[in-house]
Amino acid sequence: MQQTKVVDMRGITKRFPGITVNDGIDLSLLQGEVHAILGENGAGKSTLMNILFGLYQPDEGEIRIHGKPALIDNPNTAIRLGIGMVHQHFKLVQPFTVAENIILGSEPRRGFSISYREAVRRVEDLSRQYGLNVDPNARIEEISVGMQQRVEILKTLYRGADILVFDEPTAVLTPDEIEELLDIMRSLVRQGKSILLITHKLKEIMEIADRVTVIRRGKVIGNVAKAETNPSQLAEMMVGRSVSMAIDKKPIEPGKPVLQVERLVVKGREGAPAVNGISFTVREGEVVGIAGVDGNGQSELIQALTGLRKAESGEVRLMGADITNAAPRAISETGMGHIPEDRHKHGLVLDFSLRENMALRTYDKKPFKRYGLLDYAAIDKHAQELVEQFDVRCPDIYTQARALSGGNQQKAIIAREIEKGPELLIAAQPTRGLDVGAIEYIHRRIVEQRNKGKGVLLVSYELDEILSLSDRVLIIFDGQIIGETRPEETNDRELGLRMAGSRLDKDAERSHAG
Ligand SMILES: Nc1ncnc2c1ncn2[C@@H]1O[C@H](COP(=O)(O)OP(=O)(O)OP(=O)(O)O)[C@@H](O)[C@H]1O
Ligand SMILES: [Mg+2]
Repeated sequence: MQQTKVVDMRGITKRFPGITVNDGIDLSLLQGEVHAILGENGAGKSTLMNILFGLYQPDEGEIRIHGKPALIDNPNTAIRLGIGMVHQHFKLVQPFTVAENIILGSEPRRGFSISYREAVRRVEDLSRQYGLNVDPNARIEEISVGMQQRVEILKTLYRGADILVFDEPTAVLTPDEIEELLDIMRSLVRQGKSILLITHKLKEIMEIADRVTVIRRGKVIGNVAKAETNPSQLAEMMVGRSVSMAIDKKPIEPGKPVLQVERLVVKGREGAPAVNGISFTVREGEVVGIAGVDGNGQSELIQALTGLRKAESGEVRLMGADITNAAPRAISETGMGHIPEDRHKHGLVLDFSLRENMALRTYDKKPFKRYGLLDYAAIDKHAQELVEQFDVRCPDIYTQARALSGGNQQKAIIAREIEKGPELLIAAQPTRGLDVGAIEYIHRRIVEQRNKGKGVLLVSYELDEILSLSDRVLIIFDGQIIGETRPEETNDRELGLRMAGSRLDKDAERSHAG
């Protein structure tokens, strides 16, 4: 059967001041396929999809939808043409229910408005049809990130979308949620939908995509059928060189304690303890990984260590100094770097320029402030150096942080936090949203911190990342550390089981034996 093109983008060019973001891009989506778009951070993927969804106008090129030329001047036009987009940062109203969010903003039908009851019924039908399992009456603030994403999917289906665009949908999901999302996508294409999928995860592409278009610096590098490619070829097409994920880590003897956490208790959102009496130490020259299923106290632990959340009891020491419940700034000055989980809330000031963000924590110190005045030349030089070293792709250092691509925002934060030379680096999901080339680089820099005799505390849902970077792995479950292991003593399967709360582990055996 000859498949028809539901989307046909031809010669799309988009320029922003100082940069051509899309440069004559051709992209087509066939009926019933999953088409992956792969490319480095800043390659122009989100921009291309925002053009398809009517958020930007191309400077050149044409778009056909179901064979007909289309002028997509705003998202409402896109929706009328059957295009739905699931953005990486969700746009849901927290105190509202699922059904309320879904009817919100959908155009009321002429003559009568949709009743809530009717909406609930339709949401239930759609949810059942595509295996989404969403409760229409649940409030957004009460449901998990994975569920919230399903609400975004439902929103597009409710509005009649048959062309779905997903922009890095799995970056915010846990491994189990990713599997479920891939199932949902399979069910969508089985029922006639067509999907454009942006992802940095080659494993996912190999699992779900039919074809892949690779974009580098705004240009299409190639278009391949999944069946005719493999992950290393894709990685090479994308970054223009071969990528190695192997990490060269020489054994070193850990030194003095850098971070000491004693019987820490931290309350969660509902007031019950999310961290329930945790004790551990990170030493000089050591990467300590925290492995666990999302929601077992990781976020609250890190927030308490970095001064973003109050500790109820217990003690935190950094380089011997008591920093329990100290202000974030004081903690940072005692010698802590922090790559936060939520880069928009805690990492960057989006309205500030890149150069200001690079000096965010240090602008009032030498060399940036001299004789009471800000030395902009020094600030600029510093920002320029970081941008080059960490390969932050941007028009220039005066660009607003908001205008950087997601991955480049992340690289900017990492650059700033590593560069200030902290004794302890806390890295929460450090490579979320990064392309494979950038991940390779960031991993090397994290190990380099350790090799220099600094301490690193790593929290990640990517078990591969935990196992390749850590010297020791702590397993967190239900607010407690329930076990400890070393990468060379375990594997992702065993670790996954222990994270699910199985206490039948080596520690238990050891203590029984002893
Ligand atoms: N409104 C804007 N003004 C100026 N430059 C912009 C704007 N939006 C995006 N850019 C630039 O366009 C380039 C491409 O950004 P885009 O978000 O499309 O990248 P991406 O491929 O989605 O990357 P990532 O994988 O990091 O999400 C980046 O260099 C970014 O700084
Ligand atoms: Mg993007």
